[in-house]
Amino acid sequence: MMKKENKYSIKTLFSESLIQKKVSQTAKRISRDFKDKKPLVIAVLNGSFIFCSDLIRKLDSKFAVDFISLSSYEGVISKGKVKVVSNLKENIKNRDVIIVEDIVDSGETLDFLLKELKPKKPKSITVCALLDKKEARVKEIPVKYSCFEVGNEFVVGYGLDYNGFFRGLPYIGILKK
Ligand code: IMP
Ligand code: MG
Repeated sequence: MMKKENKYSIKTLFSESLIQKKVSQTAKRISRDFKDKKPLVIAVLNGSFIFCSDLIRKLDSKFAVDFISLSSYEGVISKGKVKVVSNLKENIKNRDVIIVEDIVDSGETLDFLLKELKPKKPKSITVCALLDKKEARVKEIPVKYSCFEVGNEFVVGYGLDYNGFFRGLPYIGILKK
């Protein structure tokens, strides 16, 4: 279905109910795999805040939550470089960490984050992404859990934005100008 959102059209890819179903299934897998482990769930801001808040409310197992805010430099020369805008509060040493990301696209962001976290000696690091855009991958990323695979198109909604817009849409859609 095509919906008009201002001057953009958004073609629905995953409905609100399908997203909730997939998030529940993913939470079930995580609850089972991390039973008795009390993992530290790290939400990568800003994009994953809606996904992560739904996901953790569906977890049966015990867990802690922390946040890290990352952003890409927009400069012409350093495009693709990632920086930490706001760091974790928790110490991750010897802990089972689950990184929750909105989408793994080129993989540059998670490649950077994994390199940031590994020297801090967590017991394990597991990646959980709402969306996996496999075709666009430049860096190899071990995505253990993903709710959906998407093609090489720009998607918005359910936390994902285009220039700050569309994060609040309850569904995920392909943005068409
Ligand atoms: P990367 O290319 O894997 O580093 O993707 C980094 C970030 O770019 C993701 O965490 C998203 O915040 C954003 N991003 C990548 N693809 C899309 C998209 O299709 N829609 C919205 N944001 C995206
Ligand atoms: Mg992101």
